[in-house]
Amino acid sequence: MINHSKARAYTNIALIKYWGKRDESLILPMNSSLSMTLDRYFTETEVSVDPILSNDQILIDQNTIDVISHHNLVRFLNLIREMSGNPYFAKVESINRVPTAAGFASSASGYAALALAASSAYGLKLTPKELSILARRGSGSASRSIFGGFVLWHRGQLINGEDSYSESLIDEVYEWPIEVISAVVSTDKKSISSRMGMKQTVETSPLYKGWLESVDSDIMRAIHAIKAKDFTSLGEVVEHNALKMHATMMSAWPSVIYFTSGTLEIINLVQRMRQEGIEAYFTIDAGPNVKILCQKSDTGKVKNALIQLSAVQSVEICSLGKGASLIE
Ligand code: DP6
Repeated sequence: MINHSKARAYTNIALIKYWGKRDESLILPMNSSLSMTLDRYFTETEVSVDPILSNDQILIDQNTIDVISHHNLVRFLNLIREMSGNPYFAKVESINRVPTAAGFASSASGYAALALAASSAYGLKLTPKELSILARRGSGSASRSIFGGFVLWHRGQLINGEDSYSESLIDEVYEWPIEVISAVVSTDKKSISSRMGMKQTVETSPLYKGWLESVDSDIMRAIHAIKAKDFTSLGEVVEHNALKMHATMMSAWPSVIYFTSGTLEIINLVQRMRQEGIEAYFTIDAGPNVKILCQKSDTGKVKNALIQLSAVQSVEICSLGKGASLIE
């Protein structure tokens, strides 16, 4: 008998970043992080566990992928087979509605959707916390995409990772009109993966200690600001946290620099807009594209200013999105 399950999960943007692992194989972070799940971009993944198959078959965006070069995906499925005691191979069909051109990575939504669809197809009944731990084993940020709204990923202390999971802080129905504008300056594949970039930073940056010492207070301040709906306070800590993360990676050796001239142009624009009274704050992940946090009443103005810059190729607007769910 073939067992099918299909799931959808949305991308998230870290407001307080995850940067650095204390265990590479279990994907255990050096610090806790806090994110906002977004409502526009998602991955849908269908998993069919089939006793007839002699190998896993994986299709991403309708293309069959070579399972040898994508051994991480097979390793992830092996983990689920081990947990479930069901040895059969599976066909995995995944569609990313996360266009590269939108400037978001698809690993968070991808592994969150795969964790839910595969665990269900293999007959595992996981709690949201267990699902978040499982998704984390695929990609750290995926542990956050299990939940909607504002999400906190606990660093945890245990060496087996069982206390390193995400939880919902405030769900997506929270009435607070904040939006995220994604401004894309490049869709080229990044020269250094976030996985490598964080490793290099942890091993060589003299500033990394300072980063770790400041993250927890950034998280406290962000949680307080979200609960109090204090946009200024949230924006300030979000922007400062992203800059601190980039400063630590720039001070690694060899240095890890994701900024381009277009990134800097947007940073300057956002800071200039603030001086002119339009409240907007930026955050930047492991790439050159910029996400701008603003209040809905200002989104139009901020978007218009961004598209005037020749470096900006496209802009997309997102708000709070839902957690991962089974579909059909
Ligand atoms: C800068 O979750 O993609 O976006 O755990 O190695 O798969 P792996 O890394 P990933 O890294 C995300 C880094 C970041 C910050 C964040 O999302 O918190």
